[in-house]
Amino acid sequence: MNPALTTRARAPGAAAPTDLQPLLLQTAPVETQTSVLDVARLFLDPRHGGLLSLAVVDAARPIGSISRYELMRVFLMPYGRELYGRRPITALMNAQPLVLSLATPLDQAARAIATHIRSPITDDFVLVDADGCYLGTGLVLDVLRAVEGRLTDRGSELERAYARLKSSQLQLVQSEKMASLGQMVAGLVHEINTPLGYVRNNVEMTRGALGDAAQLVAAQQAVIDVLTGAAEPSADLEMHMAQIEELRPRIDTAALGDLCDLLDDTLHGVGQIGDLVSNLKDFSRLDQSGLQKADVNKLVDSALKIVQHLLRKREVAVVREAGELPQIECAPARINQVLLNLLSNAIQAIEHERGRIVVRTQVLDGRVLILVEDNGKGIAAEHLARIFDPFFTTKPVGQGTGMGLAISHQIVEQHGGMIRVASRPGVGTRFLVVLPVDGRGKRS
Ligand SMILES: Nc1ncnc2c1ncn2[C@@H]1O[C@H](COP(=O)(O)OP(=O)(O)OP(=O)(O)O)[C@@H](O)[C@H]1O
Ligand SMILES: [Mg+2]
Repeated sequence: MNPALTTRARAPGAAAPTDLQPLLLQTAPVETQTSVLDVARLFLDPRHGGLLSLAVVDAARPIGSISRYELMRVFLMPYGRELYGRRPITALMNAQPLVLSLATPLDQAARAIATHIRSPITDDFVLVDADGCYLGTGLVLDVLRAVEGRLTDRGSELERAYARLKSSQLQLVQSEKMASLGQMVAGLVHEINTPLGYVRNNVEMTRGALGDAAQLVAAQQAVIDVLTGAAEPSADLEMHMAQIEELRPRIDTAALGDLCDLLDDTLHGVGQIGDLVSNLKDFSRLDQSGLQKADVNKLVDSALKIVQHLLRKREVAVVREAGELPQIECAPARINQVLLNLLSNAIQAIEHERGRIVVRTQVLDGRVLILVEDNGKGIAAEHLARIFDPFFTTKPVGQGTGMGLAISHQIVEQHGGMIRVASRPGVGTRFLVVLPVDGRGKRS
């Protein structure tokens, strides 16, 4: 008999077994004629200390198993030893042992054991080769350990996969941020260029008008000085007179009168540029994901300014209904990102000329509600459940990454809020974002 009952602890780093091969114990079989007493002695042999049962084999095939438990039960009976001791082991054996092929995959073996097992666990299982010939014994406990090892392996595999997923998700968030930043910067450049154009034009006109006017004033002053006796009459007088003659027709007095309006326009343009720059400043805090108090109405208005060029291009009217809101604890840059995604989706969904987007904010039960509603083409019922899935897009290749709503959903959830959608194809879509006033800590 092979004393193969050694501990089969896994070497550190070794992979858990996938079949029963490493669990085989080459225990010698019990012959059918072996007496009950002799089998009891086999169980007393320290080499078999870990075995629950031994296989009973006839002509190389297992026909049963005898368990330590069964022997103990019989020996505990009054006169059990005397009554059964000399009888062949077949009188007590379990004629339906669990027999498994050595090549059985571990998972399948575990399932077979689970269906076969009784309480208390009294038997191990018998291992056979592909032809059904006896090879040895397998311990139920070893299978449990191996399954546990597999689970641990899978757990750490899962952990690694999760870490990989997280980092690629982070990269996606990053690239989405870059994409929305790019989109926003392009919009802003356009927005800044328009007032910048007329500010430059106005300044050039003012400079032209003022240059000539300054010369005229100087020449006139010189003539006035001579006439009032403040200066000596000189040959310069004629020169000044000629200068005045030449400059006067060039000076458009009406234009001089308009100068004030021109400067007012210029100031307005500069103010617009200032506004845009301060919006850009708000958005350039994209990477500050820290929590701070913010006014959602301000965030909404500044997001609307950012998409203004798109709204204008598509002639979409915006109805802004701003309710009175408490400041909320949030990562403003991230909420900006959500608003930008919702607004650009709404604009992109409008394909007709009567485009209208309603943006309403209000407070309800201590939570801030942001509603973005469009009268665009709507979302088909079969798509509705998938729009928050990463990479789900119905837009042509190169036009949508399908990450906008996935990221928005994640951001809102991280704030302890929720985002809901309702849509009717051909009528429009409504997105509702609910954010708790006191940040992500207190979800309700
Ligand atoms: N307001 C809306 N009206 C109609 N369909 C919408 C609306 N918002 C989202 N969708 C649908 O949901 C899909 C997913 O939106 P999501 O913002 O996640 O990605 P995307 O807009 O396609 O691409 P990206 O935002 O990366 O440019 C869109 O392709 C569109 O089919
Ligand atoms: Mg989008």
